[in-house]
Amino acid sequence: EKGGYDHYMLKEIHEQPQSLRQAIAGRIDDFEGRVDLDLSLPESFLREVDEIQLVACGTSYHACLFGKQLIESLADVRATVEYGSEYAVGSGRTPDRTLVVGVSQSGETADTLRGLRAARRSGVRTLGVTNTVDSTVARECDDAVYIQAGPEIGVAATKTFGSQVVTLALLAVAVADARDELDPEVAGDLLDGLQRLPGAVQGVLDDEETIRDVAEHYADGEAFFFVGRQFGSPVALEGALKLKEISYDHAEGFPAGELKHGPLALVTDETPVLALLTDGARPDETANNVREVQARGAPVIAFSSATRGEEDVAEQFSIPDLGLLEPLVANVYLQLFAYHLANSKGRSIDKPRNLAKSVTVE
Ligand code: F6R
Repeated sequence: EKGGYDHYMLKEIHEQPQSLRQAIAGRIDDFEGRVDLDLSLPESFLREVDEIQLVACGTSYHACLFGKQLIESLADVRATVEYGSEYAVGSGRTPDRTLVVGVSQSGETADTLRGLRAARRSGVRTLGVTNTVDSTVARECDDAVYIQAGPEIGVAATKTFGSQVVTLALLAVAVADARDELDPEVAGDLLDGLQRLPGAVQGVLDDEETIRDVAEHYADGEAFFFVGRQFGSPVALEGALKLKEISYDHAEGFPAGELKHGPLALVTDETPVLALLTDGARPDETANNVREVQARGAPVIAFSSATRGEEDVAEQFSIPDLGLLEPLVANVYLQLFAYHLANSKGRSIDKPRNLAKSVTVE
């Protein structure tokens, strides 16, 4: 049932070209540059919406951090991201013009449901973005959009992260359109990128041996840091979460600019730093932070746009030209890095200690 792979996690990483295609299937009208998510939320509501609050946990929370930036840049509407466990409606909000989007792979996460229920009680409209048809999130929200990734068995979420981001990108275009904010060129580039994403991800999967060798080479690192900016920032957080979950190594992700505000104290020649230096991740600014960690002797593993050549990095992976979606392609390298590092240590990859696939307690 693992399709010849040693673990579900590896199988699911490899399914991504297909699952990413499924996320957009039938949803993009190329000719018109439009998106159809089959929403039942009234168009008039979407036109008037003045805040979109994204509510989620863990990996889904990271997907929301990516989605928030897409929504704000395309639809010119304020978007916030909140942990399900911390969500509170707060004062100064406008419930009748707010949309709360609950993002949950399983659709059963108690913390996320708690946030969504608080939103509903205050009269806010809710939209569920989930992988699981008929899940509690899908049933309790006013409307639901499915990410269509197929079942995910490995406890560590992999393929569903990309599908969540893609679905939120489609939502950003749909909201921009409803609000008459759609810039055809910007939307066209994004939709074109979404269609080329599965091919770019396949390119990463074809390079698996290289990243496996790198993961095994650095497996004895004392701690691992992941840095990026803009769309690279949520991917840095996600890369660190994946590694800590399945390898039990200390891993932390930061927006690259935050390094010098504290974490830099931990950087030594024993702490590999994985850096996102692609388009969409403000690579020139991040390169400055990379120099700061290099000065402390840290080996740098760079994921860079094809046009860039980094100086003095220990390893460099090249990401094909995909504009602001490049960090999402680099994320697949980070998934493979986590997998192979953990596998070389003989960890229980599909069922890491202390974790459950669906967390139904608060
Ligand atoms: C990470 C992971 C968890 C989940 C989190 C939310 O690999 O699997 O962090 O992302 O528990 O789960 P869902 O998306 O089902 O609400």
